[in-house]
This record gives sequence, C-alpha cells and structure tokens, in this order.
Amino acid sequence: MTRHFLRDDDVTQAEQSAILDLAIEIKRDRWARKPLAGPQTVAVIFDKSSTRTRVSFAVGIADLGGVPLIISTASSQLGGKETASDTARVLERQVAAIVWRTYAQAGLVEMAAGTTVPVINALSDDFHPCQLLADLLTIREHRGELAGLTVTFLGDGASNMAQSYLLAGATAGMHVRVASPTDYAPDDRVVADADAIAARTGGSITLYTDALEAVAGADVVVTDTWVSMGKEDEKAERLTRFGQYRVDADLMALAKPDALFLHCLPADRGYEVTTEVIDGPQSVIWDEAENRLHAQKALMVWLLAQ
Ligand code: CP
Repeated sequence: MTRHFLRDDDVTQAEQSAILDLAIEIKRDRWARKPLAGPQTVAVIFDKSSTRTRVSFAVGIADLGGVPLIISTASSQLGGKETASDTARVLERQVAAIVWRTYAQAGLVEMAAGTTVPVINALSDDFHPCQLLADLLTIREHRGELAGLTVTFLGDGASNMAQSYLLAGATAGMHVRVASPTDYAPDDRVVADADAIAARTGGSITLYTDALEAVAGADVVVTDTWVSMGKEDEKAERLTRFGQYRVDADLMALAKPDALFLHCLPADRGYEVTTEVIDGPQSVIWDEAENRLHAQKALMVWLLAQ
C-alpha cells in the first residue's frame, strides 16, 4: 500500500528515526542517492507562498536525479475548478510523487486517497511535518539522541508548527510543552493523539498558559510567527494576545544554559522573538533551514522505497 506523509504521526518512532539516519547519511554524501533517476518528475504544488519549502524541494528532487514540477494553484485547475482526487488521478499517471502546500488538511487526505503515488504535506493549516523532520534532524545534530529531551513551543498553540511539535516530538519520545493563551490551545484531538503516542515512546505532553513555567529547564525553545498564513486579518488581536510569549534573552535564561533556539522562518523579528535571541549563540536557525533539504530528500528516498 502506498505510504503518504500527511501528518507527523504517519510514521512510527522507528521509521522517523530511520528517516533521520538517512538524512544524516545524505547530508554527508549529497549526490549519492538517485531514486528519481530517469529522470522522474515530482509535482510540487503551492496554494500558499513559500521560500524554504519551494527551494528545498526543487533542489532536493534535482539532487535525487529527478525533475521538480513547481505548480502554483492560481495558474492550475486546482482550488475550486477541479477536485483534489481528480487532480491526483491525473498526476499519478505522470509523476513519481506529489508534494502539496495547502490550507485544509482534508484536501491532502482526499488527494492521498485518490492516488497510488506518495503524497507529502508541505504545510497545511494543521501540520507542518516536513519542517519537523528538519527540526528534529537539527536537534539531533546538536544534542545527539532526541528521546528524553524537553522541547517548549511558545505562541499560537493551535498553529501547524505547535501541533506538529506535539505529534513529532511525542513520536521521538520527547517531553513536549506548548505554551499559549487558552483560546489558542492545540486541538483536543491532536493533544489526545500525541498523548497516546507519548505513552508508547516514553515522552510526555504538557500544555501551559505561563511562558516562564513552560520554558523552565527546557533543552530546546521554539517559536513561530504569531500570524500564520491565512490569519492576516487577526493580526492586531494576535499581536496583543501573544506578547507574553515573546522569546527574549530573559526567557531563554530560564531554559538550560545550553538550550537551543529554533524558528522555522520567516520570522517577525521583535514580535515572537527578539533579534538578540534569533541572532544569538543558542540559535540554530540556519542549520534548521538547510536541513529542510536533507530531511525532505531522506523522506522522499524512504517513501519511494516503501
Ligand atoms: N518554514 C517554511 O516552511 O518556510 P517557507 O514558508 O518559506 O517555505
């Protein structure tokens, strides 16, 4: 059966670890793997804007011997003119895999149900699992094993990054803390899924409203923009509500002295994170951005071999 990567928990702990091992191998020897030689084509579809995801998939597919076909939804029949499942049936006759950045998770589920080629979530409103593979790779490079580490996400707990941290962190056996206002807490169903995973992997899930409490003793501190794509009309309200979750030097000082700072970028400097922190010695954001390439190449190699 075709494997897809729509959510972080579409892989087991062992599979996640194998993909990260592969990413480390690929990073060391960038052009060794050519599963897309032919060349085969991978469709990479964007309903939303992107820099990192667009570049890393395009470069990664080329590195793997293939051809990236970048499709903007605005210039295609997707997005109201043709269903995701009909699009999937057309694409599968010609491409080796489909990568899609979209809004509703349900669209990805429909796309995956309608095709025999792997579908990869390149960000939805609910999850950003490719980013999490890059984040976990970065943490592993800097800290070794993931299991047992405490990671704190601050800001919009209902965002795709917070929810992906819950699922991916739990899968890795990490202790995941999310700090947000109560009305911006993660979806109860995602928390329940993450709790169930953590019970199997030895990790844990804890939700906070207090940023200081959430960061105390953490190994890794993470934030993201307070105004995710599609939430622009809520900007003024969000800037007011999330103020106490800004990652500044005082907040970082509550984490472990060698704690890492991660941000998937793009950043609104001065809002969710101060320039002092994002450009400071604990920040590993450039490794994190580069690791999108290696982690996604590993994911594609792994999915194409299933
Ligand atoms: N982090 C991330 O997904 O960046 P882009 O929006 O630039 O792709």
